[in-house]
Amino acid sequence: MNEAKLILDGKEYLLPVVKGTQDELAIDISKLRDQSGYITLDDGYGNTGSCTSSITFIDGDKGILRYRGYPIEELAEKSTFIETAWTIIWGRLPTKVELQRFSKLLTEHELLHEGLRHHYDGFPTNAPPMAILSAMINSIGGYHQELLGAMSEAEFENTAALLMSKVRTIAAAAYKMSIGRPIMYGVPEYSYVHNFLHMMFSLPNRPYVADPDIVKALNLILILHADHEQNCSTSTVRMVASSGANLFASAAAGVCALWGHLHGGANQAVVEMLEEIRKSKISIKEYVEKVKRKENGIKLMGFGHRVYKNFDPRSKILHDMARKVLQKQEQDDELLDIAQELAEIALNDDYFIQRKLYPNVDFYSGIIMRAIGIPVNMFTVMFAIGRMPGWIANWKEVHDNSKQRICRPRQIYTGEEARHYESIDVR
Ligand code: ACO
Repeated sequence: MNEAKLILDGKEYLLPVVKGTQDELAIDISKLRDQSGYITLDDGYGNTGSCTSSITFIDGDKGILRYRGYPIEELAEKSTFIETAWTIIWGRLPTKVELQRFSKLLTEHELLHEGLRHHYDGFPTNAPPMAILSAMINSIGGYHQELLGAMSEAEFENTAALLMSKVRTIAAAAYKMSIGRPIMYGVPEYSYVHNFLHMMFSLPNRPYVADPDIVKALNLILILHADHEQNCSTSTVRMVASSGANLFASAAAGVCALWGHLHGGANQAVVEMLEEIRKSKISIKEYVEKVKRKENGIKLMGFGHRVYKNFDPRSKILHDMARKVLQKQEQDDELLDIAQELAEIALNDDYFIQRKLYPNVDFYSGIIMRAIGIPVNMFTVMFAIGRMPGWIANWKEVHDNSKQRICRPRQIYTGEEARHYESIDVR
């Protein structure tokens, strides 16, 4: 085994080197504090491997993304969201029988418990759907307490299907409540994505007729969001899972982490930024200059990534799909024109070139969702539906690891020295 040598205060420490299946290298420092008294410090974890994982591989320099070894481009072209989800959770492409069994479970679980449905009454109609989603996912545990403890493989399959199925119903119902329309029951014969579109857009007096190309586009969006190794929300799910928390609590925490505008919230922020540019009198070039001057801390939303430093393969696929969907609908979306011009300017500008900032998954996904009719405040919810298989697979990896320790980072304290309590009269 290779070792790294560290010299601290004149003493030598040998640290094991770990190699992944794609030749990624890491120095294992897990014993360093015991041996030397030192910890490592890595603000934002940019250089810290928090686990080993066999789910997703990313090479950020080459723009490679693979789920369980399968290239994202192949899954995007040939697979469906549910087949990809199964693959991510169970580690290989499913057989016909396995896929049918899972689809059947998804259908079985599509209804919400009536008690859970009444939770919506407690939210104001203008509540952000991400707040509703995280609260409702956590509440599922209250209605399925038999799924909170240790479970067999079959029980896990049932729990995973229940969560994936209900998250879709919860999301669509949140939308219906927000617009004051009745919640629609699912249609068992419809596929997962078709059924979601039906629950979102059908009305009791007016069924939604799904265009197969729109179903395909939404499948694609969900596939591209299905996992992305140790991002902020997935790390959160693993962190929560490491304490022994159940799948619903862990996934609800993932939704909370995803909400932020630097993570899943970026898809909403991109469209809001494009709208702002459209409405404002300033040119796209001037907007880019404002970003470069970091005026009020603004960033080019949908640009940049902690891992991708060349291009984000998901963004390329989504750009093509955005053009296709708009063409098919014989629609023009001025926002796509603005996005393309913005990307063109930024990709040729030294500020962005030097910092290796490229369009990420969020840059074009919103344009497609707008064309489908999904409102902007539901964009991050769509991301959460897509990311569910990744969270489930990561939760399972933690849950199945008999050597898993609770995740508990250290810190370097920079606060006050010890001082004495003073009575309130003398403060
Ligand atoms: N626009 C303008 N400048 C940027 C951007 C951006 N989108 N992203 C990074 N930079 C700049 C930073 O200001 C910094 O500049 P400096 O060297 O002058 O200080 C430099 O590029 C390095 O950026 P960091 O913030 O160190 O990059 P980090 O890896 O911490 O952040 C992140 C990555 C959060 C994605 C960042 O690029 C960003 O905020 N992008 C916009 C939000 C976004 O699109 N988020 C979605 C990410 S993908 C996802 O979660 C699904």
